[in-house]
Amino acid sequence: ADGSVEIPVVVNVLYNTAAENVSDARIAEQIAVLNADYSGTNSDVSKIPTEFQAVKSGDVAVKFRLVNTIRKSTTKTSWSATDRANNTMKKASTGGIDATNPTNYFNLWIVGRMPSTQGEILGYATFPESAGLWNDGVVIAAPFFGKTGASSPFNLGRTATHEVGHYLGLRHIWGDANCGNDLIADTPTQTRDNAGKPTYPLYNTCGGVQRSVMFMNYMDYVDDAAMFMFSAGQKTKMQSVVASSGPRTGLRV
Ligand code: ARG
Ligand code: ZN
Ligand code: CA
Repeated sequence: ADGSVEIPVVVNVLYNTAAENVSDARIAEQIAVLNADYSGTNSDVSKIPTEFQAVKSGDVAVKFRLVNTIRKSTTKTSWSATDRANNTMKKASTGGIDATNPTNYFNLWIVGRMPSTQGEILGYATFPESAGLWNDGVVIAAPFFGKTGASSPFNLGRTATHEVGHYLGLRHIWGDANCGNDLIADTPTQTRDNAGKPTYPLYNTCGGVQRSVMFMNYMDYVDDAAMFMFSAGQKTKMQSVVASSGPRTGLRV
């Protein structure tokens, strides 16, 4: 059919507390959320506004398959900005867990909380330019991973959906600037990031043009319950990253 791919996933769990040692069931739950969101079969897909149905992704044709879970206890009670800059959780020599063959496997690290001066980091990701490097993959703080036992309003598994979007080449929908560019033609230019549960319709004006904002896109910053779509242009971008000529073609194993 199309460029359908099933990405093998290795989950690396670094836990200080029992709560951070997320269960196999919760990991399975998170993989199921990724498979629903990336196939457009999430139950809230019905909430996509009529005006955006023409540009919704439908099936992104990227699936996820858990192949291994590696667990390690740590004395670290949180992961600082320095830890994140140095990716200490991704190296055994700095108390982390080494990535498993990052060219051929998507590595996901679950850690404790990640405090920052602007609140708390839910997760972070490497872009496709990092394919195959020792630090390639996604980090998610345990309270925002999976659903059962996760922390509201980020308890529907969408932090992973968002971070995997970055891993597959997507920028934030506001382009990380006022009226910025996310390099995706069918996502309307918007002034800034949105938070919480915005009321539809929401209008922004950029360059003198008023547009209805696609704040329900996974690449905005709204609550988990308020995000439920990728666009067709985002699908095209992600497919190009995993295509046979793409930077993440190694995931086609
Ligand atoms: N702030 C994080 C990032 O920039 C993740 C945001 C995820 N949003 C959510 N509703 N779970 O990558
Ligand atoms: Zn992001
Ligand atoms: Ca756009």
